[in-house]
Amino acid sequence: MSTTLTLNVNGQNHTITVNDPSMPLLWAIRDLIGLTGTKYGCGIEICGACTVLVDGQPEKSCDMDVSSAAGRAIVTIEGLSANRTHPAQVAWIKHQVPQCGYCQSGVLMSVAGAMQAGHTGSSIASEVQNLCVCCTYQRMREAIAGL
Ligand code: FES
Ligand code: FES
Repeated sequence: MSTTLTLNVNGQNHTITVNDPSMPLLWAIRDLIGLTGTKYGCGIEICGACTVLVDGQPEKSCDMDVSSAAGRAIVTIEGLSANRTHPAQVAWIKHQVPQCGYCQSGVLMSVAGAMQAGHTGSSIASEVQNLCVCCTYQRMREAIAGL
């Protein structure tokens, strides 16, 4: 039996219908709402490519039931800031962090969540466990150091 849910994503309500309320939130964000900045990597809560903020906390959307995200404030990379003005985005551009870029929206959402929780500099770095196949870790650390 299908279920209708309302997801608040980047400040906008989206009413969606799903056949399975345990479907991953990531599928709803990408396939039903059409925001493709959030990526699928491992699907098993390890890589962090799918990270979004839910009520200000970084969550791996590949492993969060869409039904448990209903009615909560979801922020994706598209809603992190207007015109790439979040301090983490500014630092990422300054330090030219990305290589292929695939992991980077998830990394930035993890960094933003850590900042929102009050972390700065190296304490952000210890909160962010995202994986980067291109190994941009050194540039990530340099960008995070100034936050
Ligand atoms: S795709 Fe979600 S943690 Fe890897
Ligand atoms: S920049 Fe390519 S996977 Fe991280």
